[in-house]
Amino acid sequence: MSNIPSLVIMLMTVFVSVQVSAKGQKVAIASAHPLATAAGFEVLNKGGNVFDAAVAVTAALAVVEPSGSGLGGGGYWLLHREKDSFETLIDGREKAPMAAHKNMYLDKEGKVVENLSLDGALSAAIPGMPAGLVHLSEKYGKLTLSESLAPAIRYAQTGFAVGERYLKLLKLREAVIKKFPTSASIFLQDGSLPKPYSILRQPDLARTLTRIADSGRDGFYSGCLADKLVEGVKNAGGIWTKEDLKSYQVIERKPVTGIYKGIRITSAAPSSSGGVVLIEALNILSGYDLKKTDELTRKHLVTEAMRRAYHDRSLYLGDEDFINIPVKRLLSDDYAAGLRSTIRLDKALPSTQFSGEIEQQAEGINTTHFSIIDDEGNRVAATLSINFPFGSGFVAAGTGVVLNDEMDDFDSLPGAMNGYGFVGGIANSIEPGKRMLSSMAPTFLENDTDVAVLGTPGGSRIISMVLLAALDFAKGNGPDSWVKLPRFHHQFMPDLIEYESGALSDYEIASLKAMGHQLKQTPYPYGDMQAVLFNKKTKTLLAASDNRGEGRAFVAE
Ligand code: DON
Repeated sequence: MSNIPSLVIMLMTVFVSVQVSAKGQKVAIASAHPLATAAGFEVLNKGGNVFDAAVAVTAALAVVEPSGSGLGGGGYWLLHREKDSFETLIDGREKAPMAAHKNMYLDKEGKVVENLSLDGALSAAIPGMPAGLVHLSEKYGKLTLSESLAPAIRYAQTGFAVGERYLKLLKLREAVIKKFPTSASIFLQDGSLPKPYSILRQPDLARTLTRIADSGRDGFYSGCLADKLVEGVKNAGGIWTKEDLKSYQVIERKPVTGIYKGIRITSAAPSSSGGVVLIEALNILSGYDLKKTDELTRKHLVTEAMRRAYHDRSLYLGDEDFINIPVKRLLSDDYAAGLRSTIRLDKALPSTQFSGEIEQQAEGINTTHFSIIDDEGNRVAATLSINFPFGSGFVAAGTGVVLNDEMDDFDSLPGAMNGYGFVGGIANSIEPGKRMLSSMAPTFLENDTDVAVLGTPGGSRIISMVLLAALDFAKGNGPDSWVKLPRFHHQFMPDLIEYESGALSDYEIASLKAMGHQLKQTPYPYGDMQAVLFNKKTKTLLAASDNRGEGRAFVAE
């Protein structure tokens, strides 16, 4: 505990006034919504640790950012406990229901039926978020689950004012939400988009959260709530059973780790591809002195590293409970050296040289991430998702829970693209009880002086965003710089550098084209990075929230 007086910040929103302080504890929290950040500080003030704060922020995001994550979805919580240097990844990824099969999104001719894996009850996998919350709280927290869920329950009951970002995402999914009366009754007003800053109250969701607070995982995965979920899903054309819900379990996995220029990287293991692709790309880049490389060559090399690492994603990665993934080989220095030897300094190597090419634009503006660290170094990086904005758009009556459409993250047909333009194969094919491959990359970076906690939403672009931030950390820059960085991305297929306005100069665009790269500017900025940093020497904390979103970062000391 520090003697520095608490920093008290008042956050005012319509009907909700929140006090944020740290009661003498030094903690940094960055999340995608001010009320979620405030929820974290609220439980710290009750005597909670960073893991309790993570429970509170997760649950609050499920309420105040229903477009991005929620009880009907899943995610990954990467934890570090300083006293025993313990690190773990809680894999709360959704699982395919047991009645799922590899042809479930194909028509009679064997073609993918458009939107069947994206909209409505059939696109929803068995949620992992409630089990993740309970596990995190019971195994790592100091407070009761009920204490940590209290802010979220209050937000759901009292309501909060919806912002512009919320309305933009709702508009994207308005047509789907309109198809489902229960969803429309929660998110639309008289069948239309609500006005900016109108109040969203979610009494059913408050009751569901209260059930979980009272009964733990049974409050969601069995009993009358589970009955309502299964009945609602079945009546809407889905295939869930009570057994699917009852048997859902989170898995604790060993995070993947690597070293880049003296920086220790810790990130998500499969079932997410996030950590493996990130570390593989960094391993390739570790053979260059990027600090001494001109900016154009640097961008070319980073692109070529992304191309190769994302290529391996599509070949090798999936749920390691179902397939053998050669993680050790993919992350070995020799393997990186082999890939590096195929990179030319002056020329792009077209992805067609690896395999067939497919044109597709990938987008990603939902999902969510938060980062927390205290002045001992205890920390949580969590990326949480229901996949597309407002997931499947489907809410079973009486539950208040928006179900995910994470089934789209499987490869419905080898060689076909999913919603993020990923082309995959057998490794990520649909199987009963399997977790679909994710790109989520909650990450820690650590060198002699600093510990960073970061991550972002953004579908397939998550990994390239974290990669750019890691390279910026290696340059000596802080969270404020990482979240602001203009972004560029290559995911092997389509064979394109996608870039935000301002990420490449006119000279770089012309030169990259001359080297054989294809380029496309994204129609809008992407990502919503949330990052915190702890300087071990000076014991100072920093926090930053992406200005592309509406999140909030606070350091309380
Ligand atoms: O798990 C994944 O990789 C995706 N479901 C994440 C989706 C996402 O980040 C959406 N966009 N921002």
